Amino acid sequence: MPFVNVSGGALHYAVEGEGEPLLLIHGFPLSHEMWRPQLDALKASYRVIAPDLRGFGGSSALGGATTMESYASDCVAILDALQIDSAFVGGLSMGGYIAMAMLRVDAGRVRGLVLVDTQASPDDDAAKKKREENAARVEKEGTAFLVEQLLPKLLSKGAATSVQRELSRIMSAQSPAAVASALRAMAKRPDSKDMLARFSGPSLVIVGAEDEITPITKAKQMADVLTGSELVTIPGAAHMSNMEAPEAVNATIREFLRRAGS
Ligand code: MLT
Repeated sequence: MPFVNVSGGALHYAVEGEGEPLLLIHGFPLSHEMWRPQLDALKASYRVIAPDLRGFGGSSALGGATTMESYASDCVAILDALQIDSAFVGGLSMGGYIAMAMLRVDAGRVRGLVLVDTQASPDDDAAKKKREENAARVEKEGTAFLVEQLLPKLLSKGAATSVQRELSRIMSAQSPAAVASALRAMAKRPDSKDMLARFSGPSLVIVGAEDEITPITKAKQMADVLTGSELVTIPGAAHMSNMEAPEAVNATIREFLRRAGS
């Protein structure tokens, strides 16, 4: 299991395959394990790197403030440890917020973007309030209530039982402290549309046709501000499109990377 030592602890990540580096950043409240279908399929052609964000999976909580930028800096530290100058950077939902934060932290490390079921807009006041309520409740009583609330929203009604079970297993394994920190960090994230508008590398936007958390309108907003971006809708999938429809998502990413010349 590879780890990189950083101030305050160690970050765990998976790295599989050889070739052009593809960094995949997980969503909330998950770990690198959500990317198993992509690690398995894409490692034949790419070097796929999937970190556990601070406090999640096998990574230490680390100290200091947690923000989308601190998560992004942790991802950069992993690229440094692997001596990777720049990578294609993909992220699902919160992972997408962090991919966009990487543009603020060290844009030169981002060779191309793969934004999956995410959005460039910040939270409105009501969403911020809800995040704080949930963070305080998670700290008091653990994550079970949140897992129960989220599960039906993350997947389509037709999702396979095996996918529901795996998603629930990964969410239930995460530490309440990390979950609370991520909720507060997401509430503080800025609008990223200007960063996307300035990004001139290749980009791909993917959205599950049934995603109600970050719906097609949000995906379209990102594709509209990105130069020359491609928007692909995945039928029969909701927010966790990479887990529900792995073949379609893998084929879309593979085709994008092929056309991007990697
Ligand atoms: C995620 O899947 O990472 C979350 O739904 C993101 C969010 O709550 O904004």
